[in-house]
Amino acid sequence: MKVMVVGGGGREHAIIKGLAKSPKVDVIYALPGNGGIAADATCVDIGAKDLGGIRDFAVKEGIDYAVVAPDDPLAMGCVDVLQAEGIRCFGPDKKAAVIEASKVFSKDLMKKYGIPTAAYEVFDDMAAALEYLETAPIPTVVKADGLALGKGVIIAETRDDAKAAVRSMMEEKKFGESGARVVIEEFLTGPEVSVLSFTDGHAIVPMISSQDHKRALDGDKGLNTGGMGTVAPNPYYTEDVAARCMEEIFLPTVKAMNAEGRPFKGCLYFGLMITADGPKVIEYNCRFGDPEAQVVLPLLESDLLTVMEAVTDEKLAETEVKFADDFACCVVVASGGYPQSYKKGCEISMGELTGNTEVFVAGAKLEGGKLLTSGGRVLGVTSVAPTLQEAIDTAYENAAKITFENAYYRTDIGAKALKAGQK
Ligand code: AMP
Ligand code: GLY
Repeated sequence: MKVMVVGGGGREHAIIKGLAKSPKVDVIYALPGNGGIAADATCVDIGAKDLGGIRDFAVKEGIDYAVVAPDDPLAMGCVDVLQAEGIRCFGPDKKAAVIEASKVFSKDLMKKYGIPTAAYEVFDDMAAALEYLETAPIPTVVKADGLALGKGVIIAETRDDAKAAVRSMMEEKKFGESGARVVIEEFLTGPEVSVLSFTDGHAIVPMISSQDHKRALDGDKGLNTGGMGTVAPNPYYTEDVAARCMEEIFLPTVKAMNAEGRPFKGCLYFGLMITADGPKVIEYNCRFGDPEAQVVLPLLESDLLTVMEAVTDEKLAETEVKFADDFACCVVVASGGYPQSYKKGCEISMGELTGNTEVFVAGAKLEGGKLLTSGGRVLGVTSVAPTLQEAIDTAYENAAKITFENAYYRTDIGAKALKAGQK
């Protein structure tokens, strides 16, 4: 089969490496891919948001199956455009992708169908939002309605910070139109768990759970980033919690989307907080997480393409989705200065990998046979092992062999999970 993956980050590299293991796959194209992905797929210089270009390429090449991985093209309707040409796809259509693209939609969905989440208010008028903040419980959380590269969430410790957040979104338009409406919600506490799932609109199969590390620096200090590392499974996702999530969150969400005439097919991501009152939804994403995919997919024992096709063909209930009984740790190696300004174009050198380790490249380009940095998160090093400690140690042993000017990574990925009592 001729397979095409839309996107060009570490997550897409993990998807491509997963698909490449399938005996059914003959060739994989990445649009646009990156300098590291080029080792595993044919990169085509068409941007992930160029829906016309993506469609024309797919038709011309006779693509059999397309995986649309990032939020932007999903929210723009990339799957709709490809399906209109008869191309089979993995990923939700535009109507279903709104579960991530609009926080107001997702919050209203949860309220209507009784799915546990933080209490909230929606504002499209700045004066009303500011007035509400005079008496709202503090700390509070201010969220831009639309997509904002994962940066549209501000946790405000004081009333003044909350007001400043509202002004930055609604007056200064820091996130453009995404901030024209804001959600102000209750601040929840508890450990966070990411659960990615496969769903075909009928069955829902959770993948192995994972834990992201969003802050730039050790000890969860520093600025929010796209994710500095992950481990799987997540020790806070006990059997008990999993059973409650299935009953109170996962199945009700699938049913709610059907009832709204927006059946969701693809990877539905649940960002959960395990509060004293039980698991609650912090956010939905309409796609694989990045860097969650980099620990979850290496643990998948079933054939990724077969599972994805089962989602497309609505045959998930009859398809085995099996994960290894192992642990994975992904350490992201970033450019010094990320998530703010950083230098690009530094030459990357990698040592020989040891253990069960893979490198997923996120921000690098090939130039004259050399791999050069081109982004903030440059790559992720994932190791799989029978214990979490070993997975962490091996990932760090290999991350230390990767060098480029000003490279940095957190040194405590997985430390919280270890402390939570896992081997
Ligand atoms: P998001 O961009 O929606 O993933 O949010 C970024 C991070 O903000 C989440 O991973 C949480 O750590 C935090 N967060 C979001 N909503 C809440 C909330 N209601 N209470 C506490 N923390 C939150
Ligand atoms: N790692 C969080 C996300 O992909 O949104």
